[in-house]
Amino acid sequence: MEIRDDVREGFEKKLRKEPTCVFSDEIKIYKKMKVLVATEKPFAKVAVDGIREVVEKNGYELALLEKYTDVNDLYKAVADADALIVRSDKVTKEVIDHAKNLKIVVRAGAGYDNLDLEACTARGIVAMNTPGQNSNAVAELVMGLLVYTVRNFYNGKSGSELMGKKLGILAFGNVGRNVARIAKGFGMDVYAYDAFMTADQINATGMATAVANQEALFETCDIVSLHIPATAETKQSINYNLVGKMHKGGILVNSARKEVIDEAGLLKLMAERTDLKYITDIMPDADADFKAFEGRYFATPKKMGAQTEEANINAGIAAANQIADFFKTGNKKFQVNK
Ligand code: 3PG
Repeated sequence: MEIRDDVREGFEKKLRKEPTCVFSDEIKIYKKMKVLVATEKPFAKVAVDGIREVVEKNGYELALLEKYTDVNDLYKAVADADALIVRSDKVTKEVIDHAKNLKIVVRAGAGYDNLDLEACTARGIVAMNTPGQNSNAVAELVMGLLVYTVRNFYNGKSGSELMGKKLGILAFGNVGRNVARIAKGFGMDVYAYDAFMTADQINATGMATAVANQEALFETCDIVSLHIPATAETKQSINYNLVGKMHKGGILVNSARKEVIDEAGLLKLMAERTDLKYITDIMPDADADFKAFEGRYFATPKKMGAQTEEANINAGIAAANQIADFFKTGNKKFQVNK
């Protein structure tokens, strides 16, 4: 599109000094962008204040939709949003269909299985995550859950210690590495497997000993901590046969996604193997059935891994900055629908 320089300059002076969004030298947008934060599980207030500061400093407007229970409220709120920040909120094709102005959606967190990437791509909407920003929070929760478990859920009876125990980390990304770092402080013997890393790469971190495959991880370790995303390959991959490889007294801890567990298989195994424990930060669909295994099962009432002020600030402000950077410079570094 050819725009005469004097015409463009005139518009720039008349409307705003700075464009709010620069797609190219020719295409600049001067309207006040609207950034919607839609969080069914809200960020801490201090994080929302930080997001607002970034949004307003860049000349945009912030809209907040928190603790919504009706998806129609989300449909209404996205109708005029140019950018969207979410947590585990489902951004379905229907949400995208209602968001006629949407240009970017950022999942403030690591796992983006809640975003319909196909629907985003079909509309030319950039989808991003904020990798690493909440990983320490999740890792600390994992270790807290483990202490709680080996001390018999603090029931007053004699428990056991983590020191000297073998901890297996399945997927050695940001969260897995933070778990390894803290577990080393506990004096644990840390092992890891990651389908996207070689054994040499894992060993070179100096944080864990690589094992050949996930079966070996379950065979070797007293405790296995899951850090795999929910993908077509991983869904229901943690099953009867795999967990059944753990030796007596094995503990499975899940701070990843409920979808990676074959719940029917795990229920069957726990009924047969009365020594195994399952501890999770994501309540299974079959929570009521798992509850039958008293003293061997615990689920947090709501996913709490990333629910700290620090993680909310890190992930929320990173999301706001990524949006501003995308609008101002076109930076798509954290795009996940390439
Ligand atoms: C993530 O993928 O970043 C974590 O699971 C955190 O999810 P949450 O923002 O819904 O707590």
